Amino acid sequence: MIDIGKIRRSVGMIGESEIIRDMLLLIGQVADTDISVLIHGESGTGKEMVTKAIHKNSRRKFEPLVVVNCSAIPAGIIESELFGHKKGSFTGAGDDRKGYFEAAHKGTIILDEIGETPIETQAKLLRVIEQGEFMRVGGSKTEKIDVRVIAATNRDLTEEVRQGRFRKDLYFRLKTITINVPALKDHASDIHLFVERFGLEFCAKNDIAFKGFSVDAIKVLKSYHWPGNIRELKNLVESLIVIHKGIRLQEDHVNKALGLNVQDLNMNLPILLDGESDKMERELILKQLLFVRQDVNEIKQILYAEKDNPTESMYPSNQALFLPQTNKDPENIHEDYQEIDDDKFQAIHADAVGEITITDLEHEMIERTLEKFNNNRRKTAKSLDISERTLYRKISEYGIKKI
Ligand SMILES: Nc1ncnc2c1ncn2[C@@H]1O[C@H](COP(=O)(O)OP(=O)(O)OP(=O)(O)O)[C@@H](O)[C@H]1O
Ligand SMILES: [Mg+2]
Repeated sequence: MIDIGKIRRSVGMIGESEIIRDMLLLIGQVADTDISVLIHGESGTGKEMVTKAIHKNSRRKFEPLVVVNCSAIPAGIIESELFGHKKGSFTGAGDDRKGYFEAAHKGTIILDEIGETPIETQAKLLRVIEQGEFMRVGGSKTEKIDVRVIAATNRDLTEEVRQGRFRKDLYFRLKTITINVPALKDHASDIHLFVERFGLEFCAKNDIAFKGFSVDAIKVLKSYHWPGNIRELKNLVESLIVIHKGIRLQEDHVNKALGLNVQDLNMNLPILLDGESDKMERELILKQLLFVRQDVNEIKQILYAEKDNPTESMYPSNQALFLPQTNKDPENIHEDYQEIDDDKFQAIHADAVGEITITDLEHEMIERTLEKFNNNRRKTAKSLDISERTLYRKISEYGIKKI
């Protein structure tokens, strides 16, 4: 029985879509064998993560894992790097030296970007994969090795074979077990999970409060084609958080960062929605409420501090304040606080702090927003970042009468 959760945890891999689950299942099926595996996928899709997941779930997991980026090694020295060399075998070879294969003995070697290896080296790779044998550069003795080989590439190896740049026999040897890592646009339904993980991780590392992305912002992310795949998404999330510190990220922020013209986006690009979107909205609302609760707690702390020490208060009492979650040092508070305009932050009455519950807050937010938009439910839902369906449900749940 394959434990997908264990595979995920071993490398922190996320994604709930069927395509990712199938991939995890395949990783589970091949991990515990010694068979060589070819990982194929566009740049930034997670190939390296997959190779590591295979090693960490294999019986070799406590043995060495050696990752070789074949595209980064100049053709002239790749063989001595991979297989080692004998002293004096070429200028500069002052000593006998072990190569990566020997370093990986009993463990796993990952040949990343295998499509970039020179064709002459490929014959030696085939030999080591098939027979576990190789020779050091300048050596005359055949060495024996026990290494599992995992290769990764973003090239289309069939085409490389056709063009004569990749050996057919090596290709056939490798491709028996191929794991295709999907492009991000093919599992766009996972995007909110990636955004949340990358956002939380980055904010935790950098002491920034993570306020999340609005539902519309996520929709834009889901409709983008992501040529740089998960790596590009991760970079985008991190840069948006840095540029707009401590605020909830909206559709406009994302459009601007992606260089998208809103009109093009609305007219030409399909918005990918799935059956999960209502669930996702509920989760986002709950998270937003948690952020509000954090803010309430922080406001409470300030109010208590003010009550205890009224003469030293740094803040005008009629202003709502937002403090970064991690900065509790009163010395620094003054520099870091941002004022929040009363119009945008009217859900909490100053005298209700300390009494109010999250349900009260949500109830009040909905009532006030309905009031603001003259009972227009479409505008209210949009402003609250929830679907109209969710709004209708909440109105009946809270028994809100026409305002
Ligand atoms: N399923 C996933 N869950 C969480 N993070 C992921 C996942 N897939 C990829 N990542 C993250 O995306 C980034 C790119 O992944 P990785 O380096 O494995 O891609 P790659 O396919 O090897 O790219 P390249 O072809 O450019 O070498 C890394 O930061 C990785 O941690
Ligand atoms: Mg890689």
